[in-house]
Amino acid sequence: MSAALTIDDLKRQARSRVPRMFFDYADSGSWTEQTYRENESDFARIRFRQRVAVDLENRSLASTMVGQPVAMPVAIAPAAIGGLQIADGEIKAARAAEKFGIPYILSMMSICSIEDVAEASRKPFWFQIYTLRDKAFMERLVDRAKAASCSALILTMDLQILGQRHADIRNNMKAPPKITPRFLAEVMRKPRWALGMLGAKRRTFANLVGHATGVSDLSSLSTWIAEQFDLRVTWDEVRWLRRRFDGPLIVKGILDVDDARRAIEAGADAVVVSNHGGRQLDGAPSTIRVLPEIVDAVGGKTEVLIDGGIRSGQDVLKALALGAKGTLIGRPMLYGLGAGGEAGVTRALQIINKEMDVTMALMGERDAKNVGAHNIYSNELLKRQGY
Ligand code: FNR
Repeated sequence: MSAALTIDDLKRQARSRVPRMFFDYADSGSWTEQTYRENESDFARIRFRQRVAVDLENRSLASTMVGQPVAMPVAIAPAAIGGLQIADGEIKAARAAEKFGIPYILSMMSICSIEDVAEASRKPFWFQIYTLRDKAFMERLVDRAKAASCSALILTMDLQILGQRHADIRNNMKAPPKITPRFLAEVMRKPRWALGMLGAKRRTFANLVGHATGVSDLSSLSTWIAEQFDLRVTWDEVRWLRRRFDGPLIVKGILDVDDARRAIEAGADAVVVSNHGGRQLDGAPSTIRVLPEIVDAVGGKTEVLIDGGIRSGQDVLKALALGAKGTLIGRPMLYGLGAGGEAGVTRALQIINKEMDVTMALMGERDAKNVGAHNIYSNELLKRQGY
C-alpha cells in the first residue's frame, strides 16, 4: 500500500486482497455500466486554465460543507457493507476521515452499527438512510443517529428498487456470504482478509438485525430489504424527516433540475447530485454533466454537493469550478479500505489532498473556496478548440 501514488494503485491492491464477491460489489455499475464509466470519463473533458505569476504561499484547501468546517471539500460517501471489504471497515474509514478532518457518512446498510462507529470516534459523523415502509423503524433509526450525535442526515432517494449489477448475480453475492466450497477456495487466497474477519466485531447488517421487526435471523434479511424499501416514496418523506431532525438534512440521488427544486422546497438544506455511482439508472448522464444546470437552478439558495467518478484531486477541483460546494467519494474510500484498512483510506485522502493542492497552485489559486468558473474553459471554447 505504501507504494500507492494514485487511487488506481489502491484499486489494484484492493482487488488482490478482498474476496472477489466483495471487490466486484464495490467495483461494478448496473447493466452496461455506461453511466458508471461516463461518471469518470466526463471529468476528462474539462480543461483547467493555467495562470502564472500568482503568489502561491499559504495555500488552503479548507472549506465548509453544510456549515461545518472541513479540511478539504471531500466527504466519504455512504457505502453498504464497508465492513465486508475488510473487518470493521466502517470504523476504520470513520477514523481515517475524523483524523483527516473531513465528514464520514455512515450508510444505514453498514456492517458496523451507528453505536459501534460512535463509540470508536470522537467527532460526530453523518448518517444516511433510505425510505422504508416501516416508519416506526425509520423513526428509531433517526433517534439512534441523534443519540449518537450525528451532525447531518442524508436521505438517499435513488434506490427504492435495485438496479441490476450482473457481477453480483454471477458471484451469488450475499451479505453475509454463503459459505460454499467456491467461497472458501477464494478466501484461502485472501488470508489477511479472512484472518481479520475472524476477529471482526460484526459480519452482518448491524443497524438492522435485532432492531427491525422480522430481522431476527439472517436468512430473512434480503427478503426484508426487498419488502421494506418503500416504492411509494414522495417528497413528503423529506418533509417528515425535516420535522424530526434539527441538523442539516441532505437529499442524495438528485440528477434533475426539477427534483433539486422540489427537494429544497420540501426542506432539504443541501442536495447531492448523484446517480449512485452508476449503480442504478444505467443510461442516465454523468453527474458532472448535469451539475452546472442544477447549480444554476438552486445553487443560489442551497449547497449543491456532487459524487460519482471522482478519482483525483483534479476531479474535485473540476467539480468546485462547476459550482459544487463539496464532493463525496465512494469507491476511492472502498479501494483504500480493501487495500489497507484505516491506513488505506488515509492514503486515498492524502493522494486526493496532494493532487488538489498542487493542481490548485498550478492553476494560480491559493484558496479552494475561490475556485470557480474562471479556472476552466467554457464548453463553447472547448468546442472551438476541437475537444
Ligand atoms: C454505494 N452508494 C451508496 N449510497 C447510499 O446512499 N447508501 C448506500 O448504502 C450506498 N452503498 C454503496 C455501496 C457501494 C459498494 C458503492 C460503490 C456505492 C453510493 C455512494 O454513496 C456514492 O453515491 C457513489 O459511490 C459515488 O460514486 P463513486 O465515488 O463511487 O464513483
